[in-house]
Amino acid sequence: MKLQHIAFIMDGNGRWAKKRNKPRVYGHLKGAYKIEEVVRWCAQKGIKYTTFYAFSTENWKRPKSEIDYIFGLLTNKISEFYGRMDKEGVKLVFSGRLREAGEKVYSVCKEYEEKTKNNDRIVVNIALNYGGRAEIIDAINKIIKEGYSSIDEGTFRKYLYKADIPDPDLIIRTSGEKRLSNFLLWQSAYSELYFTEVLWPDFSEEELDKAIEDYNKRQRRFGGIK
Ligand code: FPP
Repeated sequence: MKLQHIAFIMDGNGRWAKKRNKPRVYGHLKGAYKIEEVVRWCAQKGIKYTTFYAFSTENWKRPKSEIDYIFGLLTNKISEFYGRMDKEGVKLVFSGRLREAGEKVYSVCKEYEEKTKNNDRIVVNIALNYGGRAEIIDAINKIIKEGYSSIDEGTFRKYLYKADIPDPDLIIRTSGEKRLSNFLLWQSAYSELYFTEVLWPDFSEEELDKAIEDYNKRQRRFGGIK
């Protein structure tokens, strides 16, 4: 089955920084730059969709200074990132409860979605203030508002944040944790999962190739038989 969409749980930034006696946020800075590299590698390999878990609905429990830093990274670095990514044909989209992340964050997200909407080499979906359960609840509330009394899976899908992005074929989580942490709960039903010990700022093209090789060896049966 052709690999179209890879989703990344970018874990281990804090530990990466700590190992270097640096503040945790330094790990997030390196982690943000890593997104660009990974997007470039994926585009070169013909992957059409990528999703990056940048901030979860649970991450508000972190110290305010760290939260501000992560959103600051987005709002301050995005034009720099955009300049380079636009040349790569990147269509940037954002998924999550964006309005709850503040007016500034919301308007930056919408601005760059608009600016890149005609790019078609690779979609980069940034999950920001994202939670899989929140996404399902948000979909249900929209469905209720529309007055449905019952729906099917195909209809439900249309109410997810990015209905036109296919489900991830492969989800890669760095830093050795083996869980989904509320990421793409609906969309991950048949995703292949790949876990690596490497911390996100150290994620390399070689690691990406290993994950893809592993994916290519697996048999996806979607509940059927071969
Ligand atoms: C997990 O590492 C990482 C995060 C919660 C934040 C990821 C955010 C970025 C890479 C920046 C995103 C920026 C933009 C511009 C989209 P952790 O802090 O949980 O690491 P630890 O488990 O080692 O503590």
